[in-house]
Amino acid sequence: MKNPVRRKKKVPKKPLNITATNSSAHPLSVIRHLSYLRGMSQPLSPEQLLTIANEFGTPLYVYHAEKITEQYGKLQQAFQQSNTRFFYAGKALTNINILKHIRSLGCHMDCSSINEVSLAIRAGFEPGNILYTSNGIAFSEIEEAVALGVNVNIDSLSNLEKFGKKYGHDYPVGIRLRPNIMAGGNLKISTGHGNSKFGIPLEQLDNILALIKQHDLFICGLHVHTGSEIKDVSVFMQVADIFSELVPDFPDVSFLDLGGGFKVPYKEEETGTDISLLGEKVADFLAKLSKTHQRDFQAWFEPGKFIVSESGYFITQINVLKQSGNTIFAGVNSGFNHLIRPMFYEAYHRIQNISNPNGPLHHYTVVGNICETDTFASDRQLPLISEGDYLVFYNAGAYGFEMASNYNARFKPAQVLVINGKPHLVSRRDVFEDLLRNQVEVL
Ligand code: LLP
Repeated sequence: MKNPVRRKKKVPKKPLNITATNSSAHPLSVIRHLSYLRGMSQPLSPEQLLTIANEFGTPLYVYHAEKITEQYGKLQQAFQQSNTRFFYAGKALTNINILKHIRSLGCHMDCSSINEVSLAIRAGFEPGNILYTSNGIAFSEIEEAVALGVNVNIDSLSNLEKFGKKYGHDYPVGIRLRPNIMAGGNLKISTGHGNSKFGIPLEQLDNILALIKQHDLFICGLHVHTGSEIKDVSVFMQVADIFSELVPDFPDVSFLDLGGGFKVPYKEEETGTDISLLGEKVADFLAKLSKTHQRDFQAWFEPGKFIVSESGYFITQINVLKQSGNTIFAGVNSGFNHLIRPMFYEAYHRIQNISNPNGPLHHYTVVGNICETDTFASDRQLPLISEGDYLVFYNAGAYGFEMASNYNARFKPAQVLVINGKPHLVSRRDVFEDLLRNQVEVL
């Protein structure tokens, strides 16, 4: 029997949409927002943050819309030479106003659950501009995504087989691969290595090809997300090399999705991923690939942190100061229930005492009020702290509020979005009834 992956192209029922939405085509709405062409947006100042904290109370997440615009603008600029689409990884922060703002820039959205897909639709993203990169999910969610008409990446042979049986050639689909590359800021956020649960291991390529042949699947894209906080551009290019080797086996592939994971600077002296260099390399890669195969390819990326991390500030207030030997514990009115990154990933967040930014420096161990070990920062030099002072945690836009919980029956913080200098409440602080909202009192 003739190998179906080599046969002449049949058109699938779901139309493909790879050229019309090239994000380097600057939709008008982006031009309107192009503050980055006029210079960087100013970070929110300690004075602005203090005013906002006084108005809305703490603990409080504050986001700065112009910073998000600036970050997206940087991507546009860095990748202007290549046919690239950006899908914001919504898992970083899903407030509906943030999603609407990101959509207004012309960015698309990557989702990791069917509920994120519904949020994307609610925020006004077109189904063709939504990507559902699945991971270990029930096939029923893939069916829901297909019914909504969004792009789907499948990450297991099991779901690929079910997909083949149900949709055959009719619905173009991408395949999430595991490249067996170790990269990322921390083992917990490294997804591409040889022991990771994510994606179909590359060594199972023959099984993938057999399923494609058996079910006449229309594979429109290949996907790899290697991890989060990848500074080294060569990691992305290693993935590009893998794609180059695979393309001959996938004649219908038009998009090559290199995932998210651009590093953002959390520490004072750090720099992030050199996206300009990456943009140049991706342009070269696509040009060479197109020349070799005499057809167009599009690069897709799914940045989360890069788009929202630096736009976010988490403001807390000092409840208690406690001296213990040489250590001064500065206890804030929050904990890992609100910002889990330091405890979970040993992540570093820059902290400032915005009530006394010019005070003399002392060493503090900043801790939370949760009833277990809850350290935000050890032995950190900060301007003199008094009880009642406001401490701000920087780079809190990504995976901050989004990973918050009600542990210890504490309320989740409110969220504020600053647009053109004006703060807007975009989600309320919990109230007591929220703690009981889904509970069923049977006694
Ligand atoms: N695409 C896929 C398939 C992903 O799994 C992720 C993140 C991204 C894109 C976006 O990665 P980013 O550009 O944001 O690095 N909670 C952790 C990060 C977990 C990332 C999970 N996947 C943290 O706070 O560091």
